[in-house]
Amino acid sequence: MSDKPEKFIDENGLRLDGRRVDEIRPMKMEIGVLSRADGSCYLEWGKNKVLAAVYGPRELHPRRMQKADSVLIRYRYNMAAFSVEDRIRPGPSRRSTEISKVSREAFEPVVLTHLYPGAVIDVFAEVLQADAGTRTAAINAASVALADAGIPMKGLVSACAVGKVDGQLVLDLNKPEDNYGDADIPMAMTSDGEITLVQMDGDVTQEEFKQAIEMCKEGCRQIMEIQKETLRNKFTKLDDVEVPDEDEDVDVSALVESTLESSEDDVEDEEEAEVESEDDTDQEEEVEGGDEDSVDEDESESEDAEDLDSVELVEDLEESFTDVDEEDATDDEDEDEKA
Ligand code: CDP
Repeated sequence: MSDKPEKFIDENGLRLDGRRVDEIRPMKMEIGVLSRADGSCYLEWGKNKVLAAVYGPRELHPRRMQKADSVLIRYRYNMAAFSVEDRIRPGPSRRSTEISKVSREAFEPVVLTHLYPGAVIDVFAEVLQADAGTRTAAINAASVALADAGIPMKGLVSACAVGKVDGQLVLDLNKPEDNYGDADIPMAMTSDGEITLVQMDGDVTQEEFKQAIEMCKEGCRQIMEIQKETLRNKFTKLDDVEVPDEDEDVDVSALVESTLESSEDDVEDEEEAEVESEDDTDQEEEVEGGDEDSVDEDESESEDAEDLDSVELVEDLEESFTDVDEEDATDDEDEDEKA
């Protein structure tokens, strides 16, 4: 690790990497980079390199983990062993478990979770190269991957950190600022400025904290533009794809069903890969306390879903979940007994 620099900001107000105090590192994103994921995004932010993959919504196994009235979001933040200077021991750690938990919570307020009761959405964020701000980088990539997977959300989530060096607040910390600075405050927020994640390491005054939020809002606004541009580019490309004639009927429910069937193949493998987080235990308890069968029996549509334009799609999706439930009823009973 390099030594602590004498000064972080020079006489011209520029930081060690030449940025102004309110400037974010260059960021670029690519969408749909993984063919097996329902949604994916590769992000480079400064020297950080992160890959996010989203799978689902798909039926959750084992069924005792299902939430009767909403989808379960699982988020796994992981640093590759080779992503940092010293090799990272593979497998979950206290740090990755904590980051996974707070990142999942950063998405819960925006995902329309009530649309997919009994289902799960898996988000994997793999840090391939780390250089400060990886949790925020992962959230930015995961947000685009969720949109790429077509997960209904109120909006995108963007994340950025504000820190303090040489007694001054700086946006989007680089490595020396992160290592030796006086504070590190990662935040995530929606386009409306609703904060969905805030953590703080170090000390700032109340006034500085307010300023940090404002700085972060501006950083997130810029990041959201990049996220939106990335998504727009995909849809512009989609314009070139051959679409059926207007009078040609498209069987949406068959499409949805085939998607679910293909995702089902992965389900058994995924059962093994449980995301370790404190909250998972709570969610498990919640389900055990609730009426598991209500997922099968509740054929009435959610009232909120009626407000959406995609009501038909939601109905098809819920029906197909019911079909899957019936087919797998025997297997699931066996599993539940074992559990
Ligand atoms: O990455 P983020 O800022 O979200 O989290 P952090 O815990 O503040 O870590 C800051 C940086 O320290 C990371 O981005 C990595 O570059 C580095 N780090 C490391 O070298 N080894 C670790 N085990 C953890 C972090």
